[in-house]
Amino acid sequence: MNEHVAGAHPTRSLDARYYTDPKIYRAEQAGLFARTWQFAGHASLVENRGDYFAFEVAGQSLFCVRDRDGEIRAFYNVCQHRAHEMVQGSGNAKLLVCPYHAWTYELTGRLRSGPNVAAVPGFDRGEICLTPVRLENFHGFLFVNLDPDAEPMDAWFPRVREELLDYVPHIARLKPLEWVEIPEKCNWKVSVENYSECYHCPVNHPTFATGVIKPESYDIQPQGHCLRHTTECQNLDRMSYPIDLASSVHAGDYSSWFLWPMFSFQVYPGNVLNTYHWRTVDADNVVVWRGWYTVDGVDSEVIRRLAIQDRATTVEEDIRLVESVQRGLRSMGYRPGPLVIDPACGVMSEHSIRTLQEWMKAGADGA
Ligand code: FES
Ligand SMILES: [Fe+2]
Repeated sequence: MNEHVAGAHPTRSLDARYYTDPKIYRAEQAGLFARTWQFAGHASLVENRGDYFAFEVAGQSLFCVRDRDGEIRAFYNVCQHRAHEMVQGSGNAKLLVCPYHAWTYELTGRLRSGPNVAAVPGFDRGEICLTPVRLENFHGFLFVNLDPDAEPMDAWFPRVREELLDYVPHIARLKPLEWVEIPEKCNWKVSVENYSECYHCPVNHPTFATGVIKPESYDIQPQGHCLRHTTECQNLDRMSYPIDLASSVHAGDYSSWFLWPMFSFQVYPGNVLNTYHWRTVDADNVVVWRGWYTVDGVDSEVIRRLAIQDRATTVEEDIRLVESVQRGLRSMGYRPGPLVIDPACGVMSEHSIRTLQEWMKAGADGA
């Protein structure tokens, strides 16, 4: 009633079916996931010419390979003869040979030869090529997009490339040191929403208010299809590892860049980069991969300790929340509640969820 008096209607959270209905998940796979930039893997997986690795996006098997000129390419993982898969896992090859009838392709995807194909009247080798997929190298992080007409990442995520370089000047030299795999029994959107608001932080993350960031300065704002988290830091003397503030302009800062729909770069004070990568399993399951990096992948006690501490605190606390929400979304007693949107934004506001849910709704409804 009061809402009407004030002439305003609070924005309500998305209907539960968006998080539980397998039909919505199938629509996302065919649409949203196939039209957005998805993380494939780190460039260090294809360091040498001929290195390749297979991966999956939107239910499609794909692979990346570094060709003889040093260029990294992505293809659908399917032979153009009778559809056998070209590669499995990862490895190194001079040529790509299909295991079924040994049709052989260059690393550029062009067909080079096939047993007895010369006997076929009118057979034109030059016409046959593995089907390429759009690929971008984002400071060593390889992203693909199944939409040949997709806008480049710099249009989707304005200024992020430059900002990341400011925060992590050595980003091109980083290699993964550790991957932490976190299966969560919830829809990917529940996990992504939880990552994208800090309204739950004071109650659920004991290290939050007492840790390094200043909660009153925490905010999350859209920047194209990136959700940018910024905050001021408390006394850096309380950090569990040493920080050389003179090493770069942002050496004392925290920030994160969530790239819609399923990846995030996060930087801790000291230019420590770590990443979140959501991989969907089905409507009710997602696996979050936390990536931790060092220059040249050199072992680091500090980074390994951070990864363990993160898994034991924030990650553990969040798993309980998102799995409970997924169960709650199946309750017959749930009516989507109003989002707490403070016009002044800030840490106790869910304005970032409104933005995210607009993108989610458009993605699921095929808009
Ligand atoms: S399916 Fe690849 S060579 Fe026949
Ligand atoms: Fe959290």
